[in-house]
Amino acid sequence: MAQINRVVTLGEFIIQNQNAFPYATGELSALLSSLRLAAKVVNAEINKAGLVDDIMGKVGTENVQGEEQQKLDVYANKIFIDALEARHLVCGIASEEEDSYVSFEKEVNNNGKYIILIDPLDGSSNIDVNVSVGTIFSIYRRVSKVGTPAEMQDFLQAGNQQVAAGYVIYGSSTMIVYTIGDGVNGFTFDPTIGVFYLSHPDIKIPAQGSIYSVNEGNYPYFKPAIQNYLKFCKEDTPNDIRPYSSRYIGSMVSDIHRNMLKGGIYMYPATKKNPNGKLRLLYECNPMAFIIENAGGQANDGDERILDIQPTKLHQRVPFYAGSLDMMAELKEFING
Ligand code: AHG
Ligand code: MN
Ligand code: MN
Repeated sequence: MAQINRVVTLGEFIIQNQNAFPYATGELSALLSSLRLAAKVVNAEINKAGLVDDIMGKVGTENVQGEEQQKLDVYANKIFIDALEARHLVCGIASEEEDSYVSFEKEVNNNGKYIILIDPLDGSSNIDVNVSVGTIFSIYRRVSKVGTPAEMQDFLQAGNQQVAAGYVIYGSSTMIVYTIGDGVNGFTFDPTIGVFYLSHPDIKIPAQGSIYSVNEGNYPYFKPAIQNYLKFCKEDTPNDIRPYSSRYIGSMVSDIHRNMLKGGIYMYPATKKNPNGKLRLLYECNPMAFIIENAGGQANDGDERILDIQPTKLHQRVPFYAGSLDMMAELKEFING
């Protein structure tokens, strides 16, 4: 058996890198630690799906975006919000599963300098069939005055203001991958002792990928430029690496994680049903764009850089294209005509 690489734990890494952050006071480190704890709790519950009846399936309610909530959506949402509220590090949190942002009642939370945006369970419709799911988070410094309750303006900041972003992937092994804006690092969970270890230091997405990830069932509803790009991906060419491989799990976290490690492009274009795309700018696109750019890739909405979009509402959706530089450049040629 190969040796397990148990050298640096996530806890140690957070502390060692605290000073890389310009305003380091230890609060961001504590905040990352509370996310780590919530991830462990959610991981334990997800691993039981299938054994415990009352954690699988739908709740019978819809979130504000009209999507059916799964029991684990609601559970993960509560675990992350409770873990963050208890530590008084953030003054508010906005979640895909909540109608509006949550501004904590206890006054002590008003002293928090940060706000968090979170997709507590991404790909939740995959839970019942034992496919990898994830959690996506995004951290900003508040713009409202410290000592007062969080305000909408704290949450509607452009993605280029993020101080940290990351995801948890509950997969064949559970990982936390995050950035504080100076590269991307991945940590794998050792369930036997309950510790995350640095397993993927300084992740760089290959500049040339060969995987395209898209729900191709929506092909008839894509714009001609996207349809033509997809035809290009499948062309049999003697002189280059096409046809590319098609890989689509349907959990954004898993699809992006694979493409980050292997190289590729992820797309969720506008469709007839979702004229602004399906993915949410604040909970999904901004954090993933921040991570992908920090890994050397690119992310845009087909025109504008995702991180430069000024959000106007919490649950805003945008078309999303992200991945390896060469594949993003090829896509751009089709979009620009
Ligand atoms: P969520 O489970 O948080 O609502 O997100 C689902 C998203 C994303 O994970 C995935 O890439 C996409 O929806 C899949 O959508 P389609 O089923 O339309 O392909
Ligand atoms: Mn999601
Ligand atoms: Mn979700």
